[in-house]
Amino acid sequence: MDEEYRKSEWIKELVPIYGHRETKSMWKIYRESDRVSAKFTDDLKKLKAQFPIQYLIGYTWFYDLKVFVDPAVLIPRPETEELVYYILDRVQDADFTVMDLGTGSGCISLALKKNKPGWEIIGVDNSLEALRVAKINAQYHNLDIHWSQGDMLDWNWNATKKSNIIVSNPPYIPLGDKSKMGGNVIFHEPESALFTADRNGLEYYLSICRNSWRQLKIGGWIFLEIHEEKGKDIVEMFESEGKYEEIEIIKDMQGKDRIFCCRSVK
Ligand SMILES: C[S@@+](CC[C@H](N)C(=O)[O-])C[C@H]1O[C@@H](n2cnc3c(N)ncnc32)[C@H](O)[C@@H]1O
Repeated sequence: MDEEYRKSEWIKELVPIYGHRETKSMWKIYRESDRVSAKFTDDLKKLKAQFPIQYLIGYTWFYDLKVFVDPAVLIPRPETEELVYYILDRVQDADFTVMDLGTGSGCISLALKKNKPGWEIIGVDNSLEALRVAKINAQYHNLDIHWSQGDMLDWNWNATKKSNIIVSNPPYIPLGDKSKMGGNVIFHEPESALFTADRNGLEYYLSICRNSWRQLKIGGWIFLEIHEEKGKDIVEMFESEGKYEEIEIIKDMQGKDRIFCCRSVK
């Protein structure tokens, strides 16, 4: 099967599902992955069933790092790169301790460690399968990151060392909104990475708000990715806790509320 034929099959089969632009960008990703041509027919079938191309080829790119992914972890998103960019821009110190809650593939931890080798990073997830993927990524990039199993909703674990930064991109989609989402997300990405049991999608933020100050050094930072419509609720939540200051919402490149930032009271 030659390349021209494969490309024409790709376009014929996938444009009706993904549209021209997305189909072309998927072709570029696929070609660059050097998949063996014997798998082509099977791959096309999976993509037609909206299996994410990143799971198919086994990796994606995040902050210029190749990040291995499989269906145990969320596929890292460009919005989350903006969160990393913001942290690195905002905090200059050389020897910080950082806790990354809900680390998944480890993408945030990896990008921070790569850019701040002096920082001690602890990636936490309740999923052992996710931690398995995160460890593979850290080994691949030769980055020394600590991984730990822990539950963000039940903070009866205590990090032995207080952190300067807590960062998280927690699940924030109410389970009730599942029916409004695109097919590939619903069927193939882990439910536990996306959905919350509460109706407003705030349970993880509430837990972080109630517990983080105890885990932070004085004046420590919290950086959270948020749902674009929840900024006001999250600001009010952290204000009423009385343990935080310098509370801010930062917009992403699309102009949407995307990053929550605050510091524990000094
Ligand atoms: C939205 S994903 C973020 C993954 C990764 N940090 C990223 O930005 O791509 C949320 C992560 O939180 C983890 N998670 C869900 N519930 C959790 C809990 N109760 N305690 C710890 N981690 C949890 C999921 O396994 C998933 O890896």
